Amino acid sequence: MIRPLHPTFGVEVLDVDLREVTAEHGFAELRTLFDEHSLLLFRGQTLDDAAHLRFGALWGPIEDRSYGAMGDAPRMDNVSNRRDDGTIAGADDLLTMDLSGNQLWHTDSIFLPRPALANVLAARVLSSTGGETEFVSTRAAWRDLPDDLRSKVEGVVFTHRLAHSRRDISRELYERHRARFPDQEWRSVWTNPVNGREALYLASHTCAIDGNESPEAQQVVADVIAFCTQPDRVYSHTWQLGDVLVWDERATLHRGRPWPYEEERTLASICVTATESDGLGSIRP
Ligand code: OGA
Ligand code: MN
Repeated sequence: MIRPLHPTFGVEVLDVDLREVTAEHGFAELRTLFDEHSLLLFRGQTLDDAAHLRFGALWGPIEDRSYGAMGDAPRMDNVSNRRDDGTIAGADDLLTMDLSGNQLWHTDSIFLPRPALANVLAARVLSSTGGETEFVSTRAAWRDLPDDLRSKVEGVVFTHRLAHSRRDISRELYERHRARFPDQEWRSVWTNPVNGREALYLASHTCAIDGNESPEAQQVVADVIAFCTQPDRVYSHTWQLGDVLVWDERATLHRGRPWPYEEERTLASICVTATESDGLGSIRP
């Protein structure tokens, strides 16, 4: 049983216990829904880290979201303002500022040589207010994009740079990310090999069109993102404990919303890396 979340994308999947889904039992149905609807919501789940990692691994190779900082074995990388020592990072802390980068429209890992297919995100500790996660369909937006904008991004190669999206947040974050993540180029449209559906593939990390980093090129990127994220295209998810969201990084943009930073907000997050069978060939320059 499914229930729509938004007129153009996203469904809530009812009556599934994610702990019981295996490659042989239940996964194929979920993968079909994922390719079709781009965003899946499951409520009332009880995934601990081990069950979350096991469920994530059904989708593909699990990405190290700490990018090497945590060692070799895949581990849960919480999206959280709680430090390892248990204290809460305040509004001016670099950790909070880096997390605030999540509040810019993006798709995960577009800046990596092996981009993400999916994110499996679960609520662990929620703030008393705020902290929603919002989504749009870049498949629906690509279908609806006006011709003047379409002609500027059809068939082009975008450059993606994590630091680009941090330039207005903190000089220190900018420098750190710039040194760590080289520029990454991908074609502007990702074709889903299962159903042939095309989606725009860009983010707030996108800094150039066909190598052109001019203000005009950056304005085109900003205009396209603005079109994609018009209010009536947004599904805003208000978290409840037990919620798990799985989204298609190839066909959506998302962003987190602010919350009172003196309160803890912790989401458990796994990214799954895209493989050739997910259509990587369609974005390779
Ligand atoms: C993420 C992310 C947004 C949020 O986990 O990739 O962008 O609401 N999260 O925390
Ligand atoms: Mn994200």
